[in-house]
Amino acid sequence: TRARVHLDPRNEIAQIDRRLFGGFVEHLGRHIYDGIFEPGHPSADDEGFRTDVIDLVKELGVSTIRYPGGNFVSGYRWEDGIGPIESRPRRLDLAWHATETNRIGLHEFASWLEKVGSDLMLAVNLGTRGTQEAIDLLEYANTSVPTARTDERAANGHPEPFAVKMWCLGNEMDGPWQLGHRNADDYGKLASRTAKGMRQLDPSIELVACGSSGRSMPTFGTWERQVLEHTFDDVDFISCHAYYQEHDGDAQEFLVSAVDMQRFIESVVATADAVAAARKSDKRIMISFDEWNVWYLTRWEEQARTYGPDEWPVAPRQLEDQYSALDAVVFGDLLITLLQHADRVRSASLAQLVNVIAPIMTEPGGPAWRQTTFFPFSITSRLATGRAVRVQIESETVPSARFGAVPQLNAVATADDEGVSVFLVNRSTTDAATATIDLGLLTSVLGRDVAVTESHLLHDDDISAANTLERPERVGVRALDDVRVVDSALLLTLPPVSWAAVRLA
Ligand code: AHR
Repeated sequence: TRARVHLDPRNEIAQIDRRLFGGFVEHLGRHIYDGIFEPGHPSADDEGFRTDVIDLVKELGVSTIRYPGGNFVSGYRWEDGIGPIESRPRRLDLAWHATETNRIGLHEFASWLEKVGSDLMLAVNLGTRGTQEAIDLLEYANTSVPTARTDERAANGHPEPFAVKMWCLGNEMDGPWQLGHRNADDYGKLASRTAKGMRQLDPSIELVACGSSGRSMPTFGTWERQVLEHTFDDVDFISCHAYYQEHDGDAQEFLVSAVDMQRFIESVVATADAVAAARKSDKRIMISFDEWNVWYLTRWEEQARTYGPDEWPVAPRQLEDQYSALDAVVFGDLLITLLQHADRVRSASLAQLVNVIAPIMTEPGGPAWRQTTFFPFSITSRLATGRAVRVQIESETVPSARFGAVPQLNAVATADDEGVSVFLVNRSTTDAATATIDLGLLTSVLGRDVAVTESHLLHDDDISAANTLERPERVGVRALDDVRVVDSALLLTLPPVSWAAVRLA
């Protein structure tokens, strides 16, 4: 099929907040232990962190990293993770039916973040704990005035504050599986008084209220409205969480998953703005899309039932999804969708980072490798600089049982002083798309011609192909064949089920 893309660099959506390329590290499975931390590993540094993993995290290009959960945080006592390692308690992690050794806590994680060059975003426990414990943690992390807590921090080796800017007020409190789950009214009141208390201590922090853990939650929409009615003046962000997977082998339906994310974002923006309208407020609540990915949740639910009541393993293999070429194309489309909403999605966290539904996998004592999803993330994070720019697309459609006829091609552009990047996805399982991208307006705004400086294509004839321990480089990206600028138009062909990025300068 043929498609046309109109690109006017003045069609600005917003300046891109680097926090859009955030990650998420939870105490879960082999994420921390035997993932980022493996003291016996040949590549381990003096603190026990795998340097091969550090190098891959840097290459991935993640900005802010949300920590320590996830479901885990709703039963977590942050004090367990500080102080002398030998006196830290072993605890049962009810969320994932595992034993938490607390070998890694705030100090160690902050040190690892310095090594990977990312910022910390902390979640507080509003499941089994409340306002006081959240304030205690904030004081411990951010205060420079001498107090019992800050003395303790110094004694634990960190005299300087950690200066954590972004804070999540709990995690997925709408989910019945969440420890301390409550209704929107109860959560909204708790989040509001916790936020007020935290701001009394440090007014410079940015706060995220829990939105829905999915657009299909029965309370979706009402939850956001009620929570924001309580917290509107207290928070900066409301969170969105979304995971997608292929169901019943229907790759075509799976390939339009980004339409769900788009509707999700637009519904939450509408709800937040309706709360603002009723208050006659100009304040705009932003979205922190602080969990998003492809996740084969149904596989995990089947596997989870195999844990016996007395089985509380340390760092078991949990949620170790292996991603295919198809998964990476859907994933690339989700990134395009986040950029298309860069005016309101000011922060996002890929869930997660290492071993657990992750772009990076490791084997104990063995190698670390890139999953298929690594490539769209690292390339988008590196090339999507400056402003997000809306493009107009004329393309064929693909059928969807949920969304009707959906554009076959999806795309977004970004522009900075040096040039422009275009990100595209072909959602068809059967048809290649030959795209003509009009550069006339771009060259007239820039006052010069542009040329392709780099291009990347993610596509595999076998859409189920994946990178594994045995074949860690089975799927990668390659330059687009025959991408060229002719008469002020960029011409390229996207094979079925493919994702691409092109840089023009
Ligand atoms: O990322 C895995 C889990 O998904 C998180 O712990 C939870 O917040 C969500 O349900």
